[in-house]
Amino acid sequence: MSGTEKVVCVTGASGYIASWLVKLLLQRGYTVKATVRDPKKVVCVTGASGYIASWLVKLLLQRGYTVKATVRDPNNPKKTDHLLALDGAKERLKLFKANLLEEGSFDSVVDDCVGVFHTASPVFLAASDPQTELIDPAVKGTLNVLKSCSKFSSIKRVIVTSSIAAIMCSRKPLTSDVILDETWFSDPLWYMLSKTLAEEAAWKFAKENGIDMITMNPGLVIGPLLLSTTTFSVDTILNLINGSYSSYDGIYRFVDTRDVANAHIQAFETPSASGRYCLVGRVTPHSETLKILRELFPALFPTQE
Ligand SMILES: NC(=O)c1ccc[n+]([C@@H]2O[C@H](COP(=O)([O-])OP(=O)(O)OC[C@H]3O[C@@H](n4cnc5c(N)ncnc54)[C@H](OP(=O)(O)O)[C@@H]3O)[C@@H](O)[C@H]2O)c1
Repeated sequence: MSGTEKVVCVTGASGYIASWLVKLLLQRGYTVKATVRDPKKVVCVTGASGYIASWLVKLLLQRGYTVKATVRDPNNPKKTDHLLALDGAKERLKLFKANLLEEGSFDSVVDDCVGVFHTASPVFLAASDPQTELIDPAVKGTLNVLKSCSKFSSIKRVIVTSSIAAIMCSRKPLTSDVILDETWFSDPLWYMLSKTLAEEAAWKFAKENGIDMITMNPGLVIGPLLLSTTTFSVDTILNLINGSYSSYDGIYRFVDTRDVANAHIQAFETPSASGRYCLVGRVTPHSETLKILRELFPALFPTQE
C-alpha cells in the first residue's frame, strides 16, 4: 500500500499531551499534519510565576501569543492561580514544570516555540551558600535554557532578563563622611555576581551557537503585583522604610514592571533590536524615595512623638 496510510492529523499539537503524541507518532514512522492556532505565535516564558514574568505573560496573552510557561511547581496555587486567571489563559496558556538545575528540563517546552523569554533566576541578596543558592541556578540555569534553545530551529530569538546589576556595581557608598581604611573588607554582592556571570556565560554561549539573543537589564523594578506574595522589589522598599537595607550608593534606578514586560516584547518583535538594553525610568536618591512614600503611604511610617 502507499505511504498515505501513515499520514495522521493531530489538532492542538503544541499542547502538553499533543506534543508527546506527535513525538511518538513521528518515532513510529507516521507523517504528522499538526494544527496549531498560529505557528508564529508560540513563545516560552521561564519562571513565569515571578513578579516581572507574570506581567510578561499577561501582556503576551493580550497580544494573542500562546504562552508555554515554566514554573517549578505547577500544583502550587500561590504560584499559578494569578496566571490561570489572566485573560486568554484558558485558551492559550500552558504550564510546564521545569527546574533551572535539571539538565534538559526545558527541551520539551521550548520545542516549537518561536521565542523564549528567560526570566527565571533566584532573586535575593542574603545567601548562606551563595554558590548553590545563587550562582549555580543563575549561571548553569541560563546555560541549561540556552542549550535547549540551541536544539530547536523554530526559535528565532531569545530574550534573557539580566539586570543593571550586571552592568554597574561597586561597593559601599563613598560619601564624604565615610573613611575607607585598612579595616574594610569588601562585601560580596552575590546576587550582582550571579547576574554578571550568568549574562557573560549567556553571551559566550549565544555567540558560539548562533543564537539571536538580547538581554534586558532593568534597574529596581517597581509597580503593581499580580501574584499574591511579596517579592525582592517589594521587600527592598519595605526595608528602606524600616531602615534595615539601602542600596550601596544611596540611589535607586526605578523602572515600572509593566514597562519592563513591554520592553521584553518589543525586543522580541522588533527585527532591528540587538544587544543589551538598560531599562531605567527614573533615578532617585533614597531621601526622595522616602519623601514620596511618606506622602503616599503615611501609614507605613511610625508616627514621631
Ligand atoms: N525585581 C527586580 O528589581 C529585578 C531587577 C533587575 C533584574 N531582575 C531579574 O528579573 C528576573 C525576574 O525577577 P523577579 O523580580 O520577577 O523575581 P521573582 O518574582 O522572584 O521571580 C523569579 C522566578 O525565578 C524562578 N526560579 C528561581 N530559581 C529557580 C530554579 N532553580 N528553577 C526554576 N525557576 C527558578 C522562581 O520560581 P518559583 O516561583 O518557583 O520560586 C520565580 O518564578 C530575574 O532574572 C531577576 O534577576 C529583577
